[in-house]
Amino acid sequence: MVEESLGVFWSLTKNTGMERPNQAMPWAVLAPSNCAKQVKIWLEEHGYRDNKLKISPLARQQYVIEDFDAHATALHAFDYVVIPVLSYCCHSLLASDSGPYDSTTTEHPKDIHAGSLPPSHPVPQNTPLGQATDSNYPLFLLPVIKTSASTKPHNNPMRAFAQLYPTTPFGAHLAWYDVFVGSEEDVGTALFHILPNKWEHYNNFCLFPDDAFKSTTWDRLFETLASHRSTDTSSSSTDLPIQNFFHHLAHTFRVTHLARKINIPKDDVLRRPEIDPLYGDWGPDYTHHLFHFYRQPTHHMVPPVNHDLQTETFWAHTVQNNVHYTWAPLHTMFSAGNISEKLRVAQSPNFRSGVVVDMYAGIGYFTLPYMLHAGASLVHACELNPWSVEGLRRGAELNGLKVRVVQEATREEVDAMGQERIILIHQGDNAKAVYRFENTADHVNLGLIPSSEAAWPGAVKALKPEGGWLHVHVNLGVGEEIAWQAHLLRSLETLLNAKINKKWILDIVHLERVKSFAPKVYHWVADVHAS
Ligand SMILES: C[S@@+](CC[C@H](N)C(=O)[O-])C[C@H]1O[C@@H](n2cnc3c(N)ncnc32)[C@H](O)[C@@H]1O
Repeated sequence: MVEESLGVFWSLTKNTGMERPNQAMPWAVLAPSNCAKQVKIWLEEHGYRDNKLKISPLARQQYVIEDFDAHATALHAFDYVVIPVLSYCCHSLLASDSGPYDSTTTEHPKDIHAGSLPPSHPVPQNTPLGQATDSNYPLFLLPVIKTSASTKPHNNPMRAFAQLYPTTPFGAHLAWYDVFVGSEEDVGTALFHILPNKWEHYNNFCLFPDDAFKSTTWDRLFETLASHRSTDTSSSSTDLPIQNFFHHLAHTFRVTHLARKINIPKDDVLRRPEIDPLYGDWGPDYTHHLFHFYRQPTHHMVPPVNHDLQTETFWAHTVQNNVHYTWAPLHTMFSAGNISEKLRVAQSPNFRSGVVVDMYAGIGYFTLPYMLHAGASLVHACELNPWSVEGLRRGAELNGLKVRVVQEATREEVDAMGQERIILIHQGDNAKAVYRFENTADHVNLGLIPSSEAAWPGAVKALKPEGGWLHVHVNLGVGEEIAWQAHLLRSLETLLNAKINKKWILDIVHLERVKSFAPKVYHWVADVHAS
C-alpha cells in the first residue's frame, strides 16, 4: 500500500518543500517525549537506530507522517518524538522474539525492506521494543517523509501556519486544489492570503471573526479536504481532515480551543455570546457538530439555568495588565476592547480603601482591577448570569483574592462578611441586591451599554449619605453628548434629593470615550461626583 501510494503522494508534494521520498523511505519509531530517551537507548543498543537521520520532535515538522489520519487521535494525545530506524530491519523489530540486530550475520537484502509491511504499526506490547519502556504509552513504527521545512517558523502565528501546514500530509493535498494550482505564489503564500488576518488570541483560546474560513473558496477547500479522508474503515471520525486542519492551527497558536464569532444578539441582556466552536473539547454541555462544514443541525446548548456550573465546560483564560480573567466562551463573553477603561480604573487614585459597587460585574472586567490595582477594600459585584458569576469567582481565586457568592444573605450577614478585604458577588438582579449595601459605597460602577439608566436609582441608594462617585457607561450617537450629560445630571439630582433632601453638588469630572461601538456611535463613561 505504501509503495502504491508513493507515486500519488509525490505528485502532491511537489510544491510543498518536501524531498521526494526515496526508494527506501525512512521508517521511524514514534515515541511520546517522556519515554523517547529510553526508546532511543534501546534502539541504539540493539543496532536498529538509523544514525544518519536526525531525531526530531514531530511538532518541529522535520518529518511528516504519510498515513497520519489512521493514528491521528493517538498522535494528538502526546508530543511525539521521531526516532529514525533502519528501514530494512523493521520486520525483525516487530517480531515478538526480536533480539539485537546483528548486521554482520543477519541478511538484509533489499527485498525485505519495510515497503512490504502495512503502512503503520502500533508497536505490540509483547515485543522487546514494546517492553523497552516501563510505561504503557503507545509507540508506533511508521514510514515518515523527510521535509525541508527547516526554515524557522514565522513570528506571526498565521504566517507560520501557512508555512507549515502545506508540509503536513493532509496539507499536502492543497497543492491539488484549483484555488492553488497555477498560482504564481507557492501554496503557503496563497493559503496565507485567504486565512483570517484578525483574531483574539488568549492564553488557551483563539477567537476568529464571524467571516473567518467562510467563502466559496473555503467551502471548496474543506469539501475537497474532507473527501481525502482516510479510506481506513477503522477510522470512526468522518471529519478528520478538517479537524486535522484546525488541530495544526491550534497547535501553531499554542492554544487548545478555536472558535469563530457569531455576533451577540443586541437584545440579550445576559450578553451571551454566540460562537461557532471550531476545535477543542467544549465540555459535556455542548454537542459539537461542526455544522457549518457538514451542514448539520445547529449546535445544542444547555441553558445555564439549572445547570451544574462545576461540570467541565471549557474555561478560557487570559492575563491583561497583570489581572487574570477566566470565562466560559460558550456562555459569557470577554470584552477585549475595554482595555483602556480597565487601565484607567486600575490607575485611578480615588478608590483607595473605598467600598465599590459594580452593578453589572460580568466576569470582573472592573471588579478585579478595582481590588488588585485601585486598592478598593470591598467590592459588591452584582451579576445576573450564573456563568459570569462562576467566571468572576474563579477569576478572583486565580488572582489570590477572597471571594464569596451571596444569594440570599441579609444586610447584617453581608455587613459581617464585608469586614475583611473581599469581593462579594450578589448573584441575581442588581435592583434586588441594593438593600444589602445601601448607604455604604464610595464608588458605583454602571458598566452596561447601550444604557445603564435602569440601575441609576439603585446606584444612588448605594452611595454613602455624604455622596461619592458614579461611573456611568452609555452608548451615544455623535452629537448626543451634551444633551445626555444634562439628562444624567437632572436625573441624578432628582434621585439624590429623594435620598436626602439637601443642596447636592453634582459634577461630571471626566467624560471618557472608551471605544467606537458602531459607525458614528461611541461607548462613553462619565465620572460623576456627588457631594
Ligand atoms: C456588558 S456586561 C458587563 C461587562 C463589563 N462591565 C464591561 O463593561 O466590560 C453586562 C453584564 O451585566 C449583567 N446584567 C445585566 N442586567 C443585569 C441586572 N439587572 N443585574 C445584574 N447584572 C446584570 C449581564 O449578565 C452582563 O454580564
